[in-house]
Amino acid sequence: MERARSFGAVAEDYERYRPGYPESLVALVTEVADGPVRRAIEIGAGTGKATRTFAGAGIEVLATDPDAEMLAVLRRECAGLPVTTARAALEDLDPADHQPFDLLYAAAAWHWTAPVTRWDLATALVRAGGAVAFFGGPFELADDEVAGIEKELIAAYAPEGRHLPPPSPADAPMLFPGDEMLADDRLSDVRQREVPRRFSLARDDYVRHLDTISAIRILPADDRAALFADLARGLPERVEVRADLMLHTARRVGDVRDSQSPHSRGRPPA
Ligand SMILES: C[S@@+](CC[C@H](N)C(=O)[O-])C[C@H]1O[C@@H](n2cnc3c(N)ncnc32)[C@H](O)[C@@H]1O
Repeated sequence: MERARSFGAVAEDYERYRPGYPESLVALVTEVADGPVRRAIEIGAGTGKATRTFAGAGIEVLATDPDAEMLAVLRRECAGLPVTTARAALEDLDPADHQPFDLLYAAAAWHWTAPVTRWDLATALVRAGGAVAFFGGPFELADDEVAGIEKELIAAYAPEGRHLPPPSPADAPMLFPGDEMLADDRLSDVRQREVPRRFSLARDDYVRHLDTISAIRILPADDRAALFADLARGLPERVEVRADLMLHTARRVGDVRDSQSPHSRGRPPA
């Protein structure tokens, strides 16, 4: 199974066992924009964990994701909020179909998008003075000793561990995607910040959460079952989890007319 498309099969588990995003993100992100942030597009919205955070603050969100099962859960969970949906990977979106947004954001999803087109698309989807924001972070056991036990147990089945290798070189001026944002002259005021997120979880819920991580999802079913049994034996009954978010933000530079295609100018919001 391709990793980027491995989530839908566990959409309900994803919704239940993955943590949400703190409300404090809304102010940190919207303060970056020049002018009000009324309309946003979310890339890789999944089951809508971050959609709720932004739509709950009154921002109209177009939540996009290529996975129909994730979007079905999102529609249910975001009922009553100012949310519309589109089944699309970033690469499927045509900026000409949309009036430029005040904000484009992605939670734990930007690394799945195609590097060659993502900045052309992101900057075309956002108005001049609008904001872009990307956040996410690994879900790690806070206790080093317990984390060591987990690492060893996982390595027996998934030698590369459960995280993607970091996409930025060690000497990059910022972590991904801040390094790419700094290199794009259509973006200004690039900032990298850390937003704390901590939890205490029952071991079983933690193990179910691991099953929503793509590096574990793609293991053969027998290996997954054996790994989960090993973890149930090896980890304490409750675990402390550190899931601090790395937040990257920037402002779209340029004249507002440059960011509206002739096709989209004057059209109602999509
Ligand atoms: C780890 S999940 C994050 C979901 C949600 N944003 C959250 O934080 O809970 C990654 C999501 O990215 C989506 N995805 C994968 N490839 C994508 C692409 N090329 N463009 C946009 N989304 C993509 C997947 O379908 C999945 O829902």
